[in-house]
Amino acid sequence: MKEDVTILAIESSCDETAAAVVKNGREVLSNVIYSQIALHTRYGGVVPEIASRRHIEKINRVIEQALSDADRKLSDMTAIAVTCGPGLVGALLVGVSAAKAISFASGIPLVGVHHIEGHISANYIEHKELAPPFMSLVVSGGHSHLVMVKDYGEYEIIGRARDDAAGEAFDKVARAIGLGYPGGPKIDRVSREGNPDAVFFPRAKIENAPYDFSFSGMKSAVLNYLNSCKMKGEEICTADVAASFQKAVIDVLVGHSMEALCAYNCSRFAIAGGVASNSGLRAAFEAACAERGISFYCPSPVYCTDNAAMIGAAAFYDYRRGVCHGFDLNAVPNLKLGERAF
Ligand code: KG4
Ligand code: ZN
Repeated sequence: MKEDVTILAIESSCDETAAAVVKNGREVLSNVIYSQIALHTRYGGVVPEIASRRHIEKINRVIEQALSDADRKLSDMTAIAVTCGPGLVGALLVGVSAAKAISFASGIPLVGVHHIEGHISANYIEHKELAPPFMSLVVSGGHSHLVMVKDYGEYEIIGRARDDAAGEAFDKVARAIGLGYPGGPKIDRVSREGNPDAVFFPRAKIENAPYDFSFSGMKSAVLNYLNSCKMKGEEICTADVAASFQKAVIDVLVGHSMEALCAYNCSRFAIAGGVASNSGLRAAFEAACAERGISFYCPSPVYCTDNAAMIGAAAFYDYRRGVCHGFDLNAVPNLKLGERAF
């Protein structure tokens, strides 16, 4: 019988300090997430320097907790995995330094993981039958990518954000309508009380790049609408604006994805990233995929937003292919999908 591969995974690319223990890429033995949201709320967004400092304070305890929740010792681990990019450089460095130190002291191999590859791999945790090839939409605070997952670790990007990522647009619009940070979950909640057809916001299409996304025009349209209401002295219904904006984003994400699935003759589709926890988006994709006979996958919300279990899932397939990093592994803030950090 083949030996189990048990991975201690670390994630610190933005404002979550996280560690997890994952067996054979699919079984989560522990998943510890220390969220810094409360710390950054007063600033209306993530302050990189504050995030790095808090990661330093929390990382050791989060890692110890992950091992203890999994009822495992460090010596039981096959590999130490860590997000090495993309993300905030100072934040990434905390996780990378911790992982390198643990690997050096214990002699356990080190595996650097791409954060977006982690988000996509979150789908493997709860969908044991899911395996490449399939198409994935990754929508997070910093990325909107339509990706063809050809094999484990082999990706073709077929669409990307030209300006604001979907999550960034959610956060900026939430701020403009007075909902504050973090914007995505707040818009999601408020939208349930609003009319999604109250205001029409434009859905951008990019010439000759049918699967690319542009959300900054939509965000500006919301700002213009708010300004014109104020100038005319008209009352603004926050729930209606939130619901109408959310519907516009969902229309674009679903529309582009369905077109791409059809063009690539692909019948399996998985969403990932923080925005994938949006209830309206999940329902819209479920309906659109069901209508077309496409199998639809999405992780539970806790595996959509940043976590280390997804890094452990991705690392398993990297490790199995022989990916292993030396102590020169660095944090690469703008690491491209499919690119390796050394
Ligand atoms: O994947 P993630 O946790 O971190 C990044 O890698 O960026 O994504 C964070 C983003 C934020 O922009 C947040 O507002 C958005 O995901 N988000 C949501 C929801 N939950 C988080 N957006 C829409 N609806 C949600 N329920
Ligand atoms: Zn993320």
